[in-house]
Amino acid sequence: MSNSNFSKETMYIHKGYKTGDHQDSLAVPLYQTSTFAFDTAEQGERRFAGEEPGGIYSRLGNPTVQVLEERIAAMELGEGALAFGSGMAAVSTILVHLTKSGDHILCTRGIYGCTFGLLKILKEKYDISHDLKTLITEEEIENAIKPNTTCIYIETPINPTMEIVDIEQITKVAKKHGIPVVVDNTFSSPYLQNPIELGADFVLHSATKYINGHGDVIAGILVGRDKGEMETIRGTVQKDFGGIISPFDAWLLIRGLKTLHVRMDRHSENASKVFDFLKAHPSVEHIYYPFDVDNPQYHVAKKQMKAGGGLISFTIKGGVKEAQKLMNELKLIKIAVSLGDAETLIQHPYTMTHSVVPEKERLEMGITGGLLRLSVGLENSSDIIEDLQQALSNM
Ligand SMILES: Cc1ncc(COP(=O)(O)O)c(C=O)c1O
Repeated sequence: MSNSNFSKETMYIHKGYKTGDHQDSLAVPLYQTSTFAFDTAEQGERRFAGEEPGGIYSRLGNPTVQVLEERIAAMELGEGALAFGSGMAAVSTILVHLTKSGDHILCTRGIYGCTFGLLKILKEKYDISHDLKTLITEEEIENAIKPNTTCIYIETPINPTMEIVDIEQITKVAKKHGIPVVVDNTFSSPYLQNPIELGADFVLHSATKYINGHGDVIAGILVGRDKGEMETIRGTVQKDFGGIISPFDAWLLIRGLKTLHVRMDRHSENASKVFDFLKAHPSVEHIYYPFDVDNPQYHVAKKQMKAGGGLISFTIKGGVKEAQKLMNELKLIKIAVSLGDAETLIQHPYTMTHSVVPEKERLEMGITGGLLRLSVGLENSSDIIEDLQQALSNM
């Protein structure tokens, strides 16, 4: 079937797959193979030379992975996608691709803890420097760009403080300087936000989260606006660093994607109810949610996100001890890092996901001892609220 004219939700289910090409199997077949047998030695030579299509070796390409990549490229409005064995493999691949020794990476003020760890390695071992900056106004963006900046790397909403940056504004300034912009779109998923449409050059995901949605896969995705450049990355950093996805995990992601739109609508609906409850609760000091009308970047969130998503961060009165006590009082909500699963999860960024960030930078990122991050799941929202209510009343 030709599926390029269908709406997004229909593409999530059909893009990149024709049943007739696969013995009429409705489900995308799982090609769980490490290598592919050639009919003749000459055929092998032609495949290696790129003169004939077909399988060679699954680190270089696999038919199940190919369906996933085509589907995600379409969902993110890009020209090409690559799938990885983790979100961090996608992050490290694009940063290695865009930089060399002596270059500078400009980042948003907050970033995921392991991305921070990677930047530290790049700086200490390869002399690739970085800055974490507030990039809200055009002037702030202009002032933060250095002559050796070769990549602007942003998260929005930022993990875990939910700060929003204006993707369109950043890409406008970046284009003037010829600097590619990479957006970590994990928190929004391709359903709620499409950075390429807003001018970004690359979008990446920890596909472990909403894209899979079922808490049983670690995976990453990188999408680019330029097909040729994506094929270059496939044939260089991805192939030679080797952080590829397994066919089985790709198959599970294809299954997860079929319900992405339905799940994201429910995650957002549930989160907005939980947000209303927490915002009104006297023990909650601050709350961070993209679609909070009191959020200074609310207008930007509304402009670039279809809905508020499933993540809420909040601080409670006190510090680490009080935050840990609240977590220990919960009965339904699971204490776990990760996000985007059917189960509601809570974590403590200060001692968990961002504990690798030195204290000074952690506090500058807004990650205090009292901050908790909630990934609102797909349970009945009343049960989630009731659990939070009973835990807060025991504080
Ligand atoms: C925003 C963000 N980016 C990247 C990653 C890394 O993804 P993975 O754990 O799949 O390697 C995470 C993981 O939590 C994340 O939250």
